[in-house]
Amino acid sequence: MFKQYKEAIESSNIVSKTDINGIITFVNDEFCKISGYTRDELIGKNHNIVRHPDVPASNFKRLWNTILQKKIFKSTVMNRAKDGSTFYVNTTIIPILDENGEIEEFIAIRYDVTKEVKLKMALEKKERELEALNRTLEKRVALQTRKLYELNKHLEERVREEVRKNEEKQKMLFWQSRFASLGQMMANIAHQWRQPLTELTLSLFNMKRATKRGDEDQVEAIYEEAKTIIQNMSQTIEDFINFFRPDKPKEAFVIAKSLEESLQILHKAMEKEHIHIDKSIDASLMAVGVSNELSQVVINLLQNAKDAFSDKNIKEKRVSIQLFKEKEFAKIVIKDNAGGIDKSVMGQIFEPYFTTKHSAKGTGLGLFMSKMIVEKGLSGSIEVENCDDGACFTIKIPLVKETLNVV
Ligand SMILES: Nc1ncnc2c1ncn2[C@@H]1O[C@H](COP(=O)(O)OP(=O)(O)OP(=O)(O)O)[C@@H](O)[C@H]1O
Ligand SMILES: [Mg+2]
Repeated sequence: MFKQYKEAIESSNIVSKTDINGIITFVNDEFCKISGYTRDELIGKNHNIVRHPDVPASNFKRLWNTILQKKIFKSTVMNRAKDGSTFYVNTTIIPILDENGEIEEFIAIRYDVTKEVKLKMALEKKERELEALNRTLEKRVALQTRKLYELNKHLEERVREEVRKNEEKQKMLFWQSRFASLGQMMANIAHQWRQPLTELTLSLFNMKRATKRGDEDQVEAIYEEAKTIIQNMSQTIEDFINFFRPDKPKEAFVIAKSLEESLQILHKAMEKEHIHIDKSIDASLMAVGVSNELSQVVINLLQNAKDAFSDKNIKEKRVSIQLFKEKEFAKIVIKDNAGGIDKSVMGQIFEPYFTTKHSAKGTGLGLFMSKMIVEKGLSGSIEVENCDDGACFTIKIPLVKETLNVV
């Protein structure tokens, strides 16, 4: 029975026996095979012949401590074969006792786990490599993220800077166009003053005659008349100054009044050119913004129509101005019969400095400024199309709530 066990163990395991001093007394074929030594080379030698130099001495100390205490030692041990190669064995060392309970010998039963250990080591190595890779990857991702973030920040700053520059440019253009229209306004004032100046001259002449006649009542009447004329002239100047005062606050205003103001300013010039103006105006509508700015837009549009008439030599010149309510918007439609805008330039007319006029006549800022006023100042929109026999501009601005309730 015992022999059968012995055979079974020895055929399937690596078996050796040593005496109490560790001197080999028996090895089986498996031991010879794995260690690379012959039985003769092993018997009588210290078991440390297969000891691997890399195994720390403390391991052997522990081994000996265990077995000398008559306990079974179990561990995976790294050994060295005769040819210097490393092999790993799962080792169990059993102290064999004599009938007195003293250690007689040690039996070591092992099985080869070299493949498993090497596989495990390779796996661990891969894991470590992977971990290191992971760490560098993480670092690289962090670095890239930071770079991207900085790029982004930089980009944001640049965008902000560009927006600011653009705003400045627009402001400048706005003022430039205001100065350009200032010239037009001066001309209109001159127009407006020509008539009352003639009237004043006449009044003075009449007054002189009445004085000579001694007609005090007549002198008084003429004096009052002249005073009114001068008051009107002074009012024109007043209006003019008001018109150009910058940075007026936004407030609710009657749209019709703003239109009338533009018509009044251009009245003489239109009359002189024999331009007939058709009006259809809803006087109740109110919007929020600066009234004079809307007047400026309407002046620009009427001025353009006037220029188009003289350019195209139109005989019967007609401009129609409509103001009406559409849903919660006020619509101002200004239409002329001056032949319309050439299709090829239609898309450009709102661009700054775009003009088809001689440089002395147009700066190309009129419509650009008008669009800015409508969009920025009045939160509205301005559109153009050719209709019938001329150009047709439509301004759409939101009405104030009060008007919505009233109408
Ligand atoms: N009613 C119109 N009929 C025909 N063409 C027009 C009309 N209104 C504008 N245009 C065209 O659009 C162009 C741009 O108009 P815009 O008012 O911006 O500039 P401008 O009148 O040429 O110069 P500015 O108004 O600065 O004196 C004009 O040069 C003209 O060709
Ligand atoms: Mg113009």
